[in-house]
Amino acid sequence: MLTTIDRPSDARFAPPGRVPLPALNAGVNNWVPHDLVMRDTWFPLAHAAGIGTRPVRRSVYSHPYFLWREDGVAVAADHHPNEGCMARGNPMTNAFGRYPVMEQYGIVWGWFGNPDAADPVHLPSLPFLPPKGGLPGYMTGTVRFDCSAPISLENLIDLTHADFLHANVVGDEKSESESIEVSWTSETVTMVRSCTGKTVAPVMKFFSGIRQPTQNIRQVIHIYLRSHCAIAYGRFSPGDDVPLFHPCVPETRDRTRLDYVMNTSNAGFMFRHVMPKASYLVSRQDSSMTSPQSPRYMRQTKRRDLHSKFDAAGQRYRLLMQDLAARQAAGDFAYRDNVSADCGDLIGLRRELFAF
Ligand SMILES: [Fe+2]
Repeated sequence: MLTTIDRPSDARFAPPGRVPLPALNAGVNNWVPHDLVMRDTWFPLAHAAGIGTRPVRRSVYSHPYFLWREDGVAVAADHHPNEGCMARGNPMTNAFGRYPVMEQYGIVWGWFGNPDAADPVHLPSLPFLPPKGGLPGYMTGTVRFDCSAPISLENLIDLTHADFLHANVVGDEKSESESIEVSWTSETVTMVRSCTGKTVAPVMKFFSGIRQPTQNIRQVIHIYLRSHCAIAYGRFSPGDDVPLFHPCVPETRDRTRLDYVMNTSNAGFMFRHVMPKASYLVSRQDSSMTSPQSPRYMRQTKRRDLHSKFDAAGQRYRLLMQDLAARQAAGDFAYRDNVSADCGDLIGLRRELFAF
């Protein structure tokens, strides 16, 4: 049995006429993810451990970000330091071509937008990561998708895809019951999937020593719309928690970079080491679907982009992104909801496992 609930997380945020899903299909089925350029947001540009005195180059929507450290402090500029700091008139940097930078959760974050609006209060809450970083390197990695970042995220938030695409890692589609709840604010969308009696995840059978044939699961996908960052937090009973930071940084409009972090500190030795690296296998499986999909939006076609009406989370994601884009197009870059407020309760964080 599948039940789906779709509601705003905060009753004060009630977009007019936004309840019956069929009426929304016009917006849902008419979006071009490549057109959704968000600004005034922090993007996770690199693992902090990977940034030293030697500059490395990243990009956000094709804008160059050179990252390095000066006296141990991470900095970002729109030019390589050897080029000197002549004034370039870049409205997203200061007079010296420097972007606002933050270092938090073991990640170097660069601000994309009006530098005067850069504020730590707009940094996404990631309560399962130590604020000062320091997790071992095997819990981190980098993968890329040849697709627009929003395509990656809408793929992620419809987590039922995992039963088919990643069955050899997280288990197949068989379960006794399944429910999906969707909630949102103007800056986030959250999907909670609960299953009972679901086929046990092969990765846990082999690396966590789970002997039972089935397990109960609670999986949460929580997306920060502007920064294109997602949390994927899974609780498996019996089994281990899988807390994944899953950013989708738009390097260009059709290329996405993920400097991911999976905090498996509380799992046993094998699972702790193996599960973070499963991302390399899982991401190839996702890429086999999303990479061919992305260029289809760039061509004129009579083929319709029909989105399943049963995917309330994916629909909500498309609508919220379109709302934000419309507001930004009208010159409104203000945050109406706080993204740095602790989201631990929302994602069902087992705080006893993540006390920092
Ligand atoms: Fe996937």
